[in-house]
Amino acid sequence: MNIILLGAPGAGKGTQAEKIIDKYNMLRVATGDMLRLAIQNQTETGMKVKDIMAAGKLVPEDIILSIVKEELEKNSDKSLLFDGFPRTVQQAEFLKSIGINVDYVVEIDVPDENIVSRLGGRWVHSKSGRVYHAVNNPPKEQWLDDETGEPLEQREDDKPETVKKRLKVYHETTAPVVKWYQSNKEELSTEFFSVDGTQDVDAVFASISENLSKK
Ligand code: AP5
Repeated sequence: MNIILLGAPGAGKGTQAEKIIDKYNMLRVATGDMLRLAIQNQTETGMKVKDIMAAGKLVPEDIILSIVKEELEKNSDKSLLFDGFPRTVQQAEFLKSIGINVDYVVEIDVPDENIVSRLGGRWVHSKSGRVYHAVNNPPKEQWLDDETGEPLEQREDDKPETVKKRLKVYHETTAPVVKWYQSNKEELSTEFFSVDGTQDVDAVFASISENLSKK
């Protein structure tokens, strides 16, 4: 089973992805995490994308397609959970062209007005991708990761002005991906469903699990 998680920045994709991979034993392919790791390791890719990401823009297609291709070649036998990919119709067409069948496209729906405050309170453990929120999901000890005890960080692109830019990019470029999957539904045998992402974390996960167990 392969799944794509879609939703605006801060909709809760990373939060739900952790729960989904645990329950369904899947490999998470999170392009944002892969790019942040490249920046942290100061690789050539990391140096190319650092300023683009900090500005809230999308990273060029050739870079994204090459890191995804490399990841998929290493893990060809696993069930895949895509988080943050595909983000453009071109990326969706790429997945189709390399024969990755997508069983579900899951949209986590959160209105823009909730997003800025969510991202302003987000703290992350960059090595693992674990996410916390100052109010909704605080770590056990202030600003330390629950599992490793290492310090948490705030993301460079979570500043309110950058979040607004990311939302604009999402509506213009990523929302059409949902329509693309809907219009190719028959050919691809892909189910689409949307869950209300304003519910609490466990309720969102329960809605996703309920829909996934229908097939
Ligand atoms: P990426 O890392 O993919 O970021 P994003 O899609 O903008 O999403 P976020 O990680 O910000 O949010 P999320 O939906 O995972 O929410 P989270 O669970 O953390 O991409 C970053 C950048 O990389 C892009 O801007 C682009 O430059 C580049 N990039 C990545 N992929 C690319 C691609 N394919 N093509 C081109 N460029 C690409 O939750 C957010 C906060 O809310 C947390 O604090 C959490 O605790 C809290 N929260 C979660 N759920 C709930 C809930 N139900 N109720 C209350 N609070 C909640």
